[in-house]
Amino acid sequence: MARNLVEDRKRLFAERNIELHFEPSESLPLVRGDERMLTQVFANLMTNAMHYTPAGGRVSMASRSVQEDDEDWVILMVEDTGLGIPMQEQEKLFTRFFRGSASRKMGNPGTGLGLAICKEILDRHGGRITVQSRPAQGSIFTVWLPSASAPAQMGFDFDPRIEDQPSREEPSPSAR
Ligand SMILES: Nc1ncnc2c1ncn2[C@@H]1O[C@H](COP(=O)(O)OP(=O)(O)OP(=O)(O)O)[C@@H](O)[C@H]1O
Ligand SMILES: [Mg+2]
Repeated sequence: MARNLVEDRKRLFAERNIELHFEPSESLPLVRGDERMLTQVFANLMTNAMHYTPAGGRVSMASRSVQEDDEDWVILMVEDTGLGIPMQEQEKLFTRFFRGSASRKMGNPGTGLGLAICKEILDRHGGRITVQSRPAQGSIFTVWLPSASAPAQMGFDFDPRIEDQPSREEPSPSAR
């Protein structure tokens, strides 16, 4: 899934002279979720990385499986070498209509909804989104999705693989 997005956006990034890389993990556990919604999350993050990274920069996406708090997660990171986000803005990023200093600097149009939508979608998947960023150095947005208990099967060409969501009974992310 992430790979398809990267392929789709390659030309857009190239036109802006931003390098785009994808470093997928070789094997990932299954993730249970709504493919359309999760695609929107990654699309929003890539669009932000593109808008808030000046020409000559680099954006990379990577996926990995990690264990934290005795739970298995699939994480997908979108890292850029762009303008970065001041500490005092970081806690507001995921609220609706918030637009920060990077958007003023780049002067791109937007409503400030992209990250609020990402957070909402991940909440519904029992996941979360985190950010690490330093002004002038860049940002890393990390999407955390709980892995489904089913063991991974090989042979699919998108990453992470998505199953239909059978129920909404996932633990709430606020419990973590
Ligand atoms: N990769 C990034 N680098 C620097 N700043 C970022 C990055 N991603 C988001 N931001 C900051 O967070 C703010 C909120 O982002 P968000 O995606 O929610 O809204 P937006 O991009 O301004 O508008 P849109 O509704 O079109 O997405 C942005 O205005 C920008 O200041
Ligand atoms: Mg945005």
